Amino acid sequence: MKERLQQLQQEALEKIAQASDLKALNDVRVAYLGKKGPITEVLRGMGALSPEERPIMGALANEVRAAIQSALEEKQAKLEQEEIEKKLASEAIDVTLPGRPVRLGNHHPLTRVIEEIEDLFIGMGYTIAEGPEVEKDYYNFEALNLPKGHPARDMQDSFYITEEILLRTHTSPVQARTMEKHQGRGPVKIICPGKVYRRDNDDATHSHQFTQIEGLVVDENIRMSDLKGTLQAFAKKMFGEDREIRFRPSFFPFTEPSVEVDVSCFNCGGHGCNVCKGTGWIEILGAGMVHPNVLEMAGFDSKKYTGFAFGMGPERIAMLKYGIDDIRHFYQNDLRFLQQFNRA
Ligand code: DAH
Repeated sequence: MKERLQQLQQEALEKIAQASDLKALNDVRVAYLGKKGPITEVLRGMGALSPEERPIMGALANEVRAAIQSALEEKQAKLEQEEIEKKLASEAIDVTLPGRPVRLGNHHPLTRVIEEIEDLFIGMGYTIAEGPEVEKDYYNFEALNLPKGHPARDMQDSFYITEEILLRTHTSPVQARTMEKHQGRGPVKIICPGKVYRRDNDDATHSHQFTQIEGLVVDENIRMSDLKGTLQAFAKKMFGEDREIRFRPSFFPFTEPSVEVDVSCFNCGGHGCNVCKGTGWIEILGAGMVHPNVLEMAGFDSKKYTGFAFGMGPERIAMLKYGIDDIRHFYQNDLRFLQQFNRA
């Protein structure tokens, strides 16, 4: 019996040594120390022993159990430690690896130009006004001194929805809407950025949908020199400190007098080059003194109040500023175009 016990201990210790994972180790535990295991089996045979031998065998059996138990515990601790180390090794993070760059989105070049213009005018005390893109004929034309049948309506081929409703052809209707809201009391000092629509065939310089920024100032004693100073500041900010502007007489039904505004060429400084087509000047916007009819229709006393207005196309400004040769680039979402405007 003694030999049997010693042999079992020997066997168990060998199997423990061989166990390569926790599951195998547990199998060994169950096999040798379990209730149906060989040690229990051996102890059952104790009844056949003499009373002197019994305690000796009992003690030996306990020693064998204890030896196996402690070998199991030792091995278990070792396997657990190994497992932790394996896990740590497989989950190790190499903090010296370079990071993966996150691609940042960017503002569209047109948005950027519009915001730049907005900031400039906000800095001069203007507020931003908006109006609907689906507009009444009244605001788009009539309230701007363009009654039905007026020949100048043909200058802006329109998308009509009904006889009285159309997609606005310019942002000028926001002038009339804003003045109405002021109920005849100045000052009014707004810019209105927004989308406009015209029945044009798309080409390098025309688009059936584009953007405009309208400006309107109405107060007592507003003069043409105020318009000129304002636009001079605008031109310097957008095209450089050395820029000059000039007014050329023009016609718009909603302003009198009306002007077209040129900026001295930022490319050649005014000597003449291909950007300014040899003239030294580049047309950037239309403007004028608000027509008394427009003031009156919107509820302002034209004897007390005067005002100036201007309208520009951010696409044209952006094309000039960045040397873009085709207006359609703005609307095609071609990343090769857009990414050229990414900030560093
Ligand atoms: N609404 C004009 C257009 O789309 C642009 C314009 C010209 C607006 C003169 C103005 C202005 O406010 O005073 O062609």
